[in-house]
Amino acid sequence: LRTVPPLQLAETYFKNYPDEVDPVWGNPCGDTRHKKIWSNNKSCDSLPSFLVIGPQKTGTTALYTFLSLHPAITSNIPSRETFEEIQFFNGNNYYKGLDWYMSFFPVESNSTSIYFEKSATYFDGDLVPKRVHALLPSAKLVTILISPAKRAYSWYQHTKAHGDLIANNYSFHQVITASDTAPKPLRDLRNRCLNPGKYSQHLERWLSYFPPQQLHIINGDVLKSNPIEVMDEIQKFLKIAPAFNYTTHLRFDPNKGFFCQIINGDKTKCLGKNKGRQYPPMEERSLKLLQRYYLSHNTALVKLLKRIGIRNIPEWLKDDLSDTP
Ligand code: A3P
Repeated sequence: LRTVPPLQLAETYFKNYPDEVDPVWGNPCGDTRHKKIWSNNKSCDSLPSFLVIGPQKTGTTALYTFLSLHPAITSNIPSRETFEEIQFFNGNNYYKGLDWYMSFFPVESNSTSIYFEKSATYFDGDLVPKRVHALLPSAKLVTILISPAKRAYSWYQHTKAHGDLIANNYSFHQVITASDTAPKPLRDLRNRCLNPGKYSQHLERWLSYFPPQQLHIINGDVLKSNPIEVMDEIQKFLKIAPAFNYTTHLRFDPNKGFFCQIINGDKTKCLGKNKGRQYPPMEERSLKLLQRYYLSHNTALVKLLKRIGIRNIPEWLKDDLSDTP
């Protein structure tokens, strides 16, 4: 039997197996051999039971906030860099490893609460479903969908409000019609406006790893108009009993124009001014262009929803399809 020093061995190994250079973290507790050598002070419970996967600008912060009010549901502890979102399964945080991720879910003695995390960029991240499945194969997934045209416009307004030069120098119409020869920052903004809204493509990727029973789709318009109904449904999906009565915790605030948390009986605490922004309505020509742009994606989405047994096609989806010029 011959061997070589570890570094040399690793180099030979990865030369032979280049696909394995990029790590995929599995659950150490999923394999008894790994569990045996897993340190005693680590726990298999330091992981979330469900994930809110986005996409961005669909009401993910509102859902995160409402879920956090639930006595039997706990969010991750906030990240120093990315605040409420951990953004582990996409981007560079993944390479910080499993210990880093698990540190966001400290085990509390006697707690019966379940953990969740919300990272809105998970939805459209190419590698995310594969990585989530490797670590959390039985996790439940929650996504929120609104009209992809409105989502694109909300992202543009969000970027503009954050002082982005491109968003401030180009109109929404110029951004969404930018060509492939346009300057890179303009193309990047165009892509961030348009790509997450190709819902059927992204959902198909998730469904190639997870059965539809583990996926819950929220209509983002209903989350705005009737969050109590949405919170009742999600509790059923998560099989949380007894159900928490959100009617005594959420109330429509006419000043904000959205549902907010009830505090001290008569006051409300709403999300910050960057959620539920005031901005002019989208130009008609941009709306028409986007409805045409998303036609094939929206048609595929209707088929997907029917295939996985969702009978109630959201109104926004019917409207986007029927209004398409
Ligand atoms: P706008 O600011 O464009 O209106 P996210 O948290 O995923 O970034 O989504 C932000 C969007 O959440 C807001 O987009 C707003 O329309 C929507 N939203 C849904 N319920 C809300 C609530 N109760 N309060 C504020 N915004 C809410």
